[in-house]
Amino acid sequence: MNGASIVQKHQNLEPVHLGQKDIPLVELPIGTIKPQFKISNLKVSYGAKEVLHGVDLDVFANVVTALIGPSGCGKSTFLRSLNRMTEVVRGTQVEGEILLDNENVFRMDVVKLRRRVGMVFQRPNPFPKSIFDNVAYGLRINGHHDSLSEAVEHSLRRAALWDEVKGQLHKSAYALSGGQQQRLCIARALAVNPEVLLLDEPCSALDPITTAKIEELLFQLKSSCTIVIVTHNMQQAARASDFTAFLLDGQLVEYQSTRKLFTTPSDPRTEAYITGRFG
Ligand SMILES: Nc1ncnc2c1ncn2[C@@H]1O[C@H](COP(=O)(O)OP(=O)(O)OP(=O)(O)O)[C@@H](O)[C@H]1O
Ligand SMILES: [Mg+2]
Repeated sequence: MNGASIVQKHQNLEPVHLGQKDIPLVELPIGTIKPQFKISNLKVSYGAKEVLHGVDLDVFANVVTALIGPSGCGKSTFLRSLNRMTEVVRGTQVEGEILLDNENVFRMDVVKLRRRVGMVFQRPNPFPKSIFDNVAYGLRINGHHDSLSEAVEHSLRRAALWDEVKGQLHKSAYALSGGQQQRLCIARALAVNPEVLLLDEPCSALDPITTAKIEELLFQLKSSCTIVIVTHNMQQAARASDFTAFLLDGQLVEYQSTRKLFTTPSDPRTEAYITGRFG
């Protein structure tokens, strides 16, 4: 169900401000959607170069939010800020406020934060271990040693990979195809039950059938997890997300229900981008 159809299904609507002050309101059902992340005036610099210039955006719980925009506009930087992966790059400075369920992420234990906010990257990056050990990895480092087999099976099922690997859990993850490796990385991220899953162009190296499987997976996962996905593929954003944020040169241009953004964008720059006139 996309954002617009969520709205149509409910009578009780209230205007909710999405994103920056000058961005139009959309109508959302009262009480049915709560912000999971509240991001205010987020600025990120690499050394002296500021690449995000003060982004305000609420990410809603249990929906899929797509981030779109031309290469270099700051999508990955924005995504990585949410679980403080930006800190992995030396010389990165982050300003502003990011609240996760009203808790300041900069004051949280970073290991706990990343357990709550998992991440999947553009290229599948399984560990040089067996399929089983990849999925069990996060559980083991978090001190879970009981019922590992059940937990691994559950995560592989959630990532729509179980049927393909159930007879070969002790084979190397490297023996899987690219699409299977990407679903394995999703299973690994899901194993620790994150509240939020961040996906940075997870399908860019995948064929259309595997891409369709991952989109279907997002649809199923959102009942238990909040999803933010970066994609260059407009059809994917339109198909798989409920809300879409369009970033340009480190600024948020428009943030809307996906249906509205792709049918009646309110900013001419959004329209130019989604119709392929630049980017
Ligand atoms: N580690 C880094 N050091 C210096 N500059 C960086 C670093 N990572 C990103 N940048 C710069 O920050 C800007 C935003 O990069 P980012 O990777 O967030 O963009 P993006 O929208 O994800 O692009 P793409 O669609 O190509 O993945 C770019 O100008 C990029 O060159
Ligand atoms: Mg990127």
